[in-house]
Amino acid sequence: MKTFVIIGSTTGIGLSITQKLIQNNRVFGVSRREHSELNHTNYTHFSFDVLEDSWDTISFPEQIDGLVYCPGSIQLKPLKMLTDKVIREDMEINFFGAINCIKAVSDRLQQNSSILLFSTVAVQQGMPFHASISSAKGAIEGLTRSLAAEFAPKVRVNSIAPSIVDTPLAKRLLNNDRKRELISNKHPLKRVGEVEDISELACFLLSVSASWITGQIIGVDGGKSSISL
Ligand SMILES: NC(=O)c1ccc[n+]([C@@H]2O[C@H](COP(=O)([O-])OP(=O)(O)OC[C@H]3O[C@@H](n4cnc5c(N)ncnc54)[C@H](OP(=O)(O)O)[C@@H]3O)[C@@H](O)[C@H]2O)c1
Repeated sequence: MKTFVIIGSTTGIGLSITQKLIQNNRVFGVSRREHSELNHTNYTHFSFDVLEDSWDTISFPEQIDGLVYCPGSIQLKPLKMLTDKVIREDMEINFFGAINCIKAVSDRLQQNSSILLFSTVAVQQGMPFHASISSAKGAIEGLTRSLAAEFAPKVRVNSIAPSIVDTPLAKRLLNNDRKRELISNKHPLKRVGEVEDISELACFLLSVSASWITGQIIGVDGGKSSISL
């Protein structure tokens, strides 16, 4: 049985990955609040705030086969409203959280293990009001390739870059039928993402089937990053 650490295991994409992995693996989930339905024998939860708490307070499993870092943000503002506070908040949760988490577990990552991070379609494709989040996620893309080089051949490092996915994080953008339709129509595949669209690829990238894939940023975005209709 393999052991996976999922930071942000309790809602959205991280929850969907956790629900798939716990069927056949041990999962050590981390988030601020526990999820009442995740009471599986293969699941252990640790309550932790990546913005407030110190990584050395987490008792991570001794041997880790895969790490997924999910916490992120969507703060869309025109440049004039992007205060240093907003930009720093985006960097803290998306980038510093990820890099400090990797530092905290790197000695426990086993041979042939895998790290999975999250970017966004807005790094590849310029979008208005995304300056802060695309900069923070751009840092994640650089981190992905750099650590893939540094950790090869022992540990693979990849990122998924989704377009909008129906999760609590994106709730404000999808909270009525009109918004959902407008956003769906901006995608060549004419719908928003579901968590399974992302967690299927996530579980593949964490598995031995992806053992020759590292340093990749893979778009799961309804065609948005590469197709113009
Ligand atoms: N959803 C989208 O449309 C979309 C689009 C592009 C990229 N992404 C990226 O995909 C990733 C996953 O997004 P998602 O939509 O699944 O997010 P989500 O629904 O907000 O889930 C985030 C998870 O992280 C935990 N978390 C949040 N803040 C935390 C903190 N300070 N300390 C510890 N845990 C924390 C949450 O649990 P608690 O709240 O209990 O802590 C939850 O388990 C993110 O990196 C996001 O930027 C998402």
